[in-house]
Amino acid sequence: MAFPTQRMRRLRVNPTMRNMVRETSLSVNNLVYPLFITYGKDKKIPVNSMPGVYQYSVDKVKEEIHELGALEIPAVLLFGIPEYKDNMGTSGCQENGVVQEAIKTIKDINPNILVITDVCLCEYTDHGHCGIVEQDGTINNDKTLELLAQQAASHAKAGSDIIAPSDMMDGRVGYIRNILDKDGYSDISIMSYAAKYSSAFYGPFREAAESAPQFGDRKTYQMDSANIKEALREVKLDIAEGADIVMVKPALSYLDVIKAVKDKFEYPTAAYNVSGEYSMIKAAAEKGWLDGESVMYEVLTSIKRAGADIIISYAAKDVAKVL
Ligand code: PBG
Repeated sequence: MAFPTQRMRRLRVNPTMRNMVRETSLSVNNLVYPLFITYGKDKKIPVNSMPGVYQYSVDKVKEEIHELGALEIPAVLLFGIPEYKDNMGTSGCQENGVVQEAIKTIKDINPNILVITDVCLCEYTDHGHCGIVEQDGTINNDKTLELLAQQAASHAKAGSDIIAPSDMMDGRVGYIRNILDKDGYSDISIMSYAAKYSSAFYGPFREAAESAPQFGDRKTYQMDSANIKEALREVKLDIAEGADIVMVKPALSYLDVIKAVKDKFEYPTAAYNVSGEYSMIKAAAEKGWLDGESVMYEVLTSIKRAGADIIISYAAKDVAKVL
C-alpha cells in the first residue's frame, strides 16, 4: 500500500493520537540517580563541569533523598570521595567509610529507595587507577580482586541492595559473587559494568569523584571504543560469573552496543548516560544553543528505545519532573 492509500501523517495529527501509538515510553521506574558522597560535615559542593550536580557529605544527603522520594525516583548509585587515599584504596572497605555511612543514612531516611553502590578502587587510590599498580606501572588484575571483593562485602554489610563493580578487572564478578554468598548476602544483586569503554566522556565525572588517573590511562582495562563483538564477550562472561544486570557505558555513543547486548542476551540491561553526555547538553543549553530539557528527554528515550531497561543519569531528576 502506498500513497494516497497509506498516509503516515494520520497517526501524528494530535498529541492524543501520538501518545496512543508511541512505541517507547520513558518511566521514572527506569531511572537511577548518581550521588557523590564526600567526607566531612555540612558540605554541598557544586561540581563545576556538571551544573546541578553536587558532592554531598553524609549529613547533607538527607534533603536530596527527600527530593528523590518526592519525584519517585526508585534508585541511587553511590560514589565515594574519601578523606584519605593510598595505593591500595583501603578507605573503600572501611566500615565507617563515606559510602558505607551514606548507605545506612539513606536506608534510615527511606528504606524503599534502592541503593546501588559503585565498587572500584579509583575513587580510593592515590594513583587514581581502578586496580593495584605494580612497580612497572602495570595494573595487577588478580591482586585487585580481593580488594574489590572486600569493598563489595563492606557495602553489603552496610545495607547496599545492588553491588555495581566498575573496575573492569577480569573475573571480578565471580569473585565478588563468591564473597557475597559466603558472607550470607546471596540475595544482593550484582549489576556489572560489563561493557565499559575507555571514554573521554568520563572527564567531568573524574572532577566530581576526584578520581582521575595520576599517570597513563585506563586503556589496559577499559574497552576500546571501536569494538562491539568484544562487548558481547564481556557481557557473556559477566553473566556466566553471576551478574544479575549487565551495563553498557557510556550510552549515547554506544546505542548499537546496548541494542546488541539486549537482543543477544535478553538480560536486564542498564545503560549509563555518563557525565560528559550530561555536561555537553547542559553547556549548550546554558549558551542558549539548544533546549536542554527536550534534548535530554530525547536522549534518554533513545537509550530506552535501543533496549536499556535501566538508565543511570544525572538528568534523572530533570526528566522525572517532565514525566
Ligand atoms: C569508576 C567510574 C567511572 C565512572 C563510573 N565509575 C570513571 C572512570 O572509569 O574513569 C564514570 C561515570 C561518568 O562519567 O558519569 N571507575
